[in-house]
Amino acid sequence: MTNHRIALIPGDGIGTEVLPPAQQVLDVLGRRHGFSLSYTSYDWSCERYVREGSMMPADGLDQLRDKDAILLGAVGYPGVPDHVSLWGLLIPIRRGFRQYVNLRPIRVFEGIDSPVRGARPDEVDFVVVRENVEGEYGEVGGRLNSGFPDEIAVQEAVFTRAGVTRVVDYAFRLASERGGRLTSATKSNGIVHTMPFWDQLVTERSASFPQVEWDQEHIDALAAKFVLEPARFDVVVASNLFGDILSDLAAAVAGSIGIAPSANLNPERDFPSMFEPVHGSAPDIAGQGIANPLGAIWSAAMMLDHLGHPDAARDITDAIVSVLAKTDVRTRDLGGTATTAEFTDELIEHL
Ligand code: NAD
Ligand code: IPM
Ligand code: MN
Repeated sequence: MTNHRIALIPGDGIGTEVLPPAQQVLDVLGRRHGFSLSYTSYDWSCERYVREGSMMPADGLDQLRDKDAILLGAVGYPGVPDHVSLWGLLIPIRRGFRQYVNLRPIRVFEGIDSPVRGARPDEVDFVVVRENVEGEYGEVGGRLNSGFPDEIAVQEAVFTRAGVTRVVDYAFRLASERGGRLTSATKSNGIVHTMPFWDQLVTERSASFPQVEWDQEHIDALAAKFVLEPARFDVVVASNLFGDILSDLAAAVAGSIGIAPSANLNPERDFPSMFEPVHGSAPDIAGQGIANPLGAIWSAAMMLDHLGHPDAARDITDAIVSVLAKTDVRTRDLGGTATTAEFTDELIEHL
């Protein structure tokens, strides 16, 4: 029987509440589809930071290196500055393991009331392909003259030919496989160096994918279209920051940020890929047992797909469709009253 070694990093806040449901679902599917998962849990978190002065040990990445995949909850909690917690754990994993593609699918499910009129079930089904390791999140910059009136902070965006090309290629290939079209998020009317470069590289790469229809939209207009006409999208490729913002927006259009999953992929498989819900640690609802576990559970489905079990992954997405269409059991973010555990039990009934 195939065994997959999974690193579990629950992290902070509701991250610790949504991973156990994902694990419950995974274990049902392992039994059904004849594979096993062995988990190693890591307590890397803000709590650890407060206790030991770092989010993870110095050899953290080495501890993860031999795993087949990483399942993460969320990182960040009040008391530890976000740039410290995130840059001490989440971002080093994405970068150290060259997870340069961040896949963020969006679907409007039957039975969920989208706040958006045009978002009908089954019509809205698209993927944001977010560049995940460079762009606006470049570490180049600094702060000077701290505390003086002439204090300054400078941060450079870093767009490389290799970095843009590989994620754009991924997006074109995905659009081709889906038989769909590609939209590139840009802002080359206002950002005059990096964004024209981005557009140029997308145009160059499009020549290798003549079968894929594509266009580009400025990020401001694109954000409006996500709300007004979400059904028109299929694959959307975006820089790190644009993709980050678009994915929360899209999740809200689909009904709740609690639903949205993500895959941080190292397509070459030189390193483990990481799967995590799009949402954060939600300190405002943490500890109450009411978080929506769907983002984590759907992320687990993406992990199974990556590990070579597309049938098991489909069982999960089918169960999500079924529980939402056939019952009114929902967590509060979707207008229900169910706890995380109650909703998970109901979902497992539909597996
Ligand atoms: P957030 O996603 O944690 O929360 C935003 C809002 O959505 C909150 O009102 C929250 O209650 C709600 N929400 C989020 N997930 C939900 C779920 N599963 N079920 C029900 N409601 C849910 O974003 P934030 O408040 O900006 O960030 C909180 C912390 O999480 C910060 O430290 C931030 O940096 C961090 N963060 C981490 C990640 C990550 O680890 N990948 C992602 C985003 C934010
Ligand atoms: C996400 C998060 C992270 C990001 C933050 C917490 C650094 O918002 O995964 O979407 O911006 O990548
Ligand atoms: Mn985000």
